[in-house]
Amino acid sequence: MTQDSTSHLTIALGADHGGWKLKDALVSWLRHHGHVVLDFGTNGAESVDYPDYAHVVAQAVLDGRASYGVLVCGTGLGMSYAANRHAGIRCAMLSEPTSARFARLHNDANMIALGGRMIGEEMAIDILRTFLATPFEGGRHERRVDKIETGETP
Ligand code: RB5
Repeated sequence: MTQDSTSHLTIALGADHGGWKLKDALVSWLRHHGHVVLDFGTNGAESVDYPDYAHVVAQAVLDGRASYGVLVCGTGLGMSYAANRHAGIRCAMLSEPTSARFARLHNDANMIALGGRMIGEEMAIDILRTFLATPFEGGRHERRVDKIETGETP
């Protein structure tokens, strides 16, 4: 099985004016590979507020409408800050695929945030492909991921 034949998933996407073009490219790539897309916009260059999109995508992941969420703003930073305010969301701000792999393997990330002004389409697709194809390793990482939510200190 190649990475491109990952079983079909429902993916929620959101972007602001700094990320909508890259988001649209990812929507096309996901559809081409048979995934179901929930596209929450934005769909043009008009200035919008990135948290509005981060929150609706996070909600779609939390309530099970989507398996994963993908956010794109200018840098990926603001989107990741907003998404990570939701308990149960682990949103990785990514700029290359190795971190995408470990975000799944070790952190069980359920969302990614990308910088539409920082990386190109090929890199973004490599990141997304890797993210979707990589399972959570579990084991000792399960305990550590649990501690993110509980805020437990030694
Ligand atoms: C919008 O200008 C920009 O601030 C936004 O796209 C993002 O980069 C925020 O983190």
